[in-house]
Amino acid sequence: MSELNLILLGPPGAGKGTQADRLRDDFAMPHISTGDILRAQVAEGTELGQEAKRYMDAGDLVPDEVIVGMITDRVAEGDARDGFLLDGFPRNQKQAEALSEALNGLERHLTAALLIEVPDDEVVRRLAGRRVCVKNPGHIYHVDFDPPKHEDVCDQDGSRLIQRDDDREETIRHRLEVYHTQTEPLIDYYDGKGLLRRLDGRRGPDEVHAHVRATVATLRLEENL
Ligand code: AP5
Repeated sequence: MSELNLILLGPPGAGKGTQADRLRDDFAMPHISTGDILRAQVAEGTELGQEAKRYMDAGDLVPDEVIVGMITDRVAEGDARDGFLLDGFPRNQKQAEALSEALNGLERHLTAALLIEVPDDEVVRRLAGRRVCVKNPGHIYHVDFDPPKHEDVCDQDGSRLIQRDDDREETIRHRLEVYHTQTEPLIDYYDGKGLLRRLDGRRGPDEVHAHVRATVATLRLEENL
């Protein structure tokens, strides 16, 4: 079976992590989230984590030198050999080119860029109410749109739910600016290569999931033709 090498594009709070967690279960592909990798480094107190935290707390992108090698090495690892779902990378033109070069070097190619589109005001509403599991950042909730059964407790493993440090309103607004100036140009970049698939992220999580899953299933069929 052909591999599916996918990236998830979209503004902060579009639901990339929420959908990636579901797609990982649907298609048994590794979910590689740059944000989760960086936050794990911060939690461990590594040198990389300490450097990254300054940028993350401000809502700025971590320098390319820190992130590019880490992700291009990661997609070459064994569990990603049959495909991967990249969430949060690439975020600018330089990262997109680095990914393309790394895949070329492995004689692989990107299958598609899945763009989840959500307007800015909805992003602010979503991120202000987001809660994440302290143990597993893939377990994501929203106080109104997707609440846990018991307040501040993860349904899936009983751990405590926390609010991310960069989910304060002024930081969210800055992250959106960074998205519009640095990441949004990648929409045209991937569209020009015929790789872009647009998804309406304004619908509820289950509806978005049904659309994303159908899109990925179609891509898999096309890859196998
Ligand atoms: P990262 O962790 O990648 O954050 P992000 O891209 O800003 O995306 P988010 O995780 O905030 O949102 P999401 O789209 O995953 O939404 P979610 O599913 O959680 O990056 C953080 C930082 O790390 C960056 O600012 C940067 O500093 C650094 N970084 C990361 N990658 C980098 C890179 N490549 N280069 C440089 N720096 C990098 O959903 C959000 C909320 O909405 C949740 O509460 C959820 O329950 C709810 N929700 C989800 N879907 C729906 C829906 N359909 N309807 C209603 N509510 C929904």
